[in-house]
Amino acid sequence: MRRKLAAGNWKMNGTSADLAQIETLARAHVGAISEILIAPPATLLHRASEITKTGPVTLGAQDCHASGSGAHTGDISAAMLLDAGASYVILGHSERRGDHAEQDSDVSAKASAALGAGLRVIICMGEALQEREAGNTLDIIAGQLAGSVPDDVSGENLVIAYEPIWAIGTGKVPSLAQIGEVHDFIRARLEQRFGAQTARAVRLLYGGSVKAANAEQIFAIPNVDGALVGGASLTADDFTPIINALDAI
Ligand code: PGA
Repeated sequence: MRRKLAAGNWKMNGTSADLAQIETLARAHVGAISEILIAPPATLLHRASEITKTGPVTLGAQDCHASGSGAHTGDISAAMLLDAGASYVILGHSERRGDHAEQDSDVSAKASAALGAGLRVIICMGEALQEREAGNTLDIIAGQLAGSVPDDVSGENLVIAYEPIWAIGTGKVPSLAQIGEVHDFIRARLEQRFGAQTARAVRLLYGGSVKAANAEQIFAIPNVDGALVGGASLTADDFTPIINALDAI
């Protein structure tokens, strides 16, 4: 059985004062059925790890460098993130792909580095609106899946997040059928490449404008194993009902 995962991506939000949100979440979800993950900005990881040491919340980072160390001013290696308290790293988010021109090959190299350092990876993919409207969604996903996911993954250390770019931060969500179609497709492609056992163990998250009001419907779709949540993960008040909806599935 795949353990459901409620992952919060704080993006470039949060300072010391917001650690209280993580504390509140941890207290509210003692004994949670789902795995709860918060990916705060890297600056908060270490302090957050002191709060989450014993509770139900695990921590993730939002990016890492593909190299282990060296002359890369401003970058952070996977081993550093692990050392700061992360057990996951989000890779290939559309904002990284857009803001930093990250290609599938970059995402794959980062994923290999992260797995080598002992982190689990959440690899993001999703189509732009024009690609959806042109009927190319599954081709785009197939390409991103083939190019961004390295060979050295296992069912336990790989999570894939399907995040249509046009749904991120917009309040727009694909139809339940559209989400289901892409998740089924990803599962089938994983099976072709890695075999049934691995494919069955990989968790597939939906991301893009998930909130309390739509979480229950989205979580009821087969092959949706949780969500990657941006805006609605920033406060415990907003994230808690989403976690509860996942626990109730
Ligand atoms: P959103 O972001 O929930 O604010 O749409 C999701 C994401 O980018 O992971």
